Amino acid sequence: MIDGTRVGDQLRTELQVEIRALQAKGVTPGLAAVLVGDNPASATYVRMKGKACDEAGLYHETIRLPPETSEAELLALVDRLNADNKIHGILVQLPLPKQITTQRVLRRVVPGKDVDGFHPENVGKVLLGDPTGFRPATPYGVQQLLLKSGVDTTGKHAVIVGRSTIVGRPMAALLLQDGPGGNATVTVCHSRTRDIKSITRMADILIVAMGKPEFVTGDMIKPGAVVVDVGTNRVDDPSTKKGYRLVGDVNFAEATHVAGAITPVPGGVGPMTITMLLHNTVQAARQWARA
Ligand code: GUN
Repeated sequence: MIDGTRVGDQLRTELQVEIRALQAKGVTPGLAAVLVGDNPASATYVRMKGKACDEAGLYHETIRLPPETSEAELLALVDRLNADNKIHGILVQLPLPKQITTQRVLRRVVPGKDVDGFHPENVGKVLLGDPTGFRPATPYGVQQLLLKSGVDTTGKHAVIVGRSTIVGRPMAALLLQDGPGGNATVTVCHSRTRDIKSITRMADILIVAMGKPEFVTGDMIKPGAVVVDVGTNRVDDPSTKKGYRLVGDVNFAEATHVAGAITPVPGGVGPMTITMLLHNTVQAARQWARA
């Protein structure tokens, strides 16, 4: 079992040293999270991000806007946060309501505060391997989880299922890099891939991020492979208090008999994602203060 909660806690402890060093110089890293509308999963994520900032000793603000917010209003808020000296990182929670063009908002965040790594300048830097760029938190978390769990990616065939701009594509860029946590041979599968099982079965490391509950079954996994499940899907379950439960994109009960190592849901990639967001916010503050 690959334990994201344990590795995430370990990285947060290490991050404390950097946070204290910045505070000693009079800089408290600050994160602003913007939530537009009332998507329940997004509200949960934003709440967890704020709680993580509090626990780590980071300054944070959560700005909640109604679902009918116009694009102009959201852009004006981003402009205000861009100019706010207490804020080093800005995160606009996705998805945004349909009257707002997501790409216009993501491009408005100054690249130096774009701790999600969604601005084209950071997307480019990550592809180039420029360490001043912000790496999107989820694939960055997966890479750190593999590193800290002793999974060597060098020369391995990593197969990514899902080509999203938030996970799949940046995941491919990170695993391809020349350095620790990189040097893999990378294949990206997606909804138009033919005979996906023949490809996933070749994976030494299988990373699944397509948002389909329990899509990957045991027969799609090579015996002994490392399986990383990025999915967090709410499925109805009247027997639980909340009325739903979380399942990954991997059928865990089947996969656990075939895989050599696997991340659970929850307790796998999720805690790592939040940890890397904190890491990026500290990086933003450090680069801002040139400390
Ligand atoms: N929605 C799903 N994943 C993410 C993420 O990493 N950042 C933001 N801002 N929104 C998301």
